[in-house]
Amino acid sequence: MTDVPQVENIEQFSEQPEEYQAACRKIVISHAINELYGSRVYDEPAIALAPTPYAKWLTCRVVMEEYGHHYRFFELGREMGIPETAMLPEMTEKSPLSIMNYNMTRWDEFCVIKLIGDLAEIIQVEDLVQCSFHPLRNLARMTMPEERFHAQFGEDFCRDICETEEGRVQIQKNLDAIFPAMPTFFGRGNSKNNVVYRKWGIKLRTNEDMREDYINRARDLVEGKFGLKLPEPVPMEMAA
Ligand SMILES: [Fe+2]
Ligand SMILES: [Fe+2]
Repeated sequence: MTDVPQVENIEQFSEQPEEYQAACRKIVISHAINELYGSRVYDEPAIALAPTPYAKWLTCRVVMEEYGHHYRFFELGREMGIPETAMLPEMTEKSPLSIMNYNMTRWDEFCVIKLIGDLAEIIQVEDLVQCSFHPLRNLARMTMPEERFHAQFGEDFCRDICETEEGRVQIQKNLDAIFPAMPTFFGRGNSKNNVVYRKWGIKLRTNEDMREDYINRARDLVEGKFGLKLPEPVPMEMAA
């Protein structure tokens, strides 16, 4: 691998080749949009679905942090010169990820979304904690403990629900409905963008690698820890 730059601040960023700058912008835009969209369609509505004051309190913390993730990416994006309109889902043509189209109506669905959806977020953020663009790397390092809390939140509440047989059946049903599309979150194989990210040390791993790691970790969690069945992912060719 050729030497990758270590870009410590925005001034140094503005001196990098256009290919480097464009690659970092793409990542920041995609995170800013998806964090905001996810906060709106899942996290915030979940406050109303949460069954107890304790669950509402922790859900509020999740909501605060997820909006905070959007805002951190949005602020960094502004410093990088990205127009605000490119980072707000309603103002851009770039549609949010297809996994965001799940119509959530129940508290136990939200718990499963946090359990397996935030595991996907953790894997994405892990890939940025060594990023050659240090402002993005620092943002990823700050975000990581919060994403871990969200996944743990999902695990804890799913465990409570699984204490009854009826609850176990419901969580399995939710996994069957929600999990199969999740691995598409990591993008297509042989991605040209990903080659550029790795060339410049912005990301470390291929999409295929991350997807495989995700499926393995989801299986350890769902089958190893819960004794439930991880459904088959949809084939990538069928991904929207
Ligand atoms: Fe997040
Ligand atoms: Fe999260």
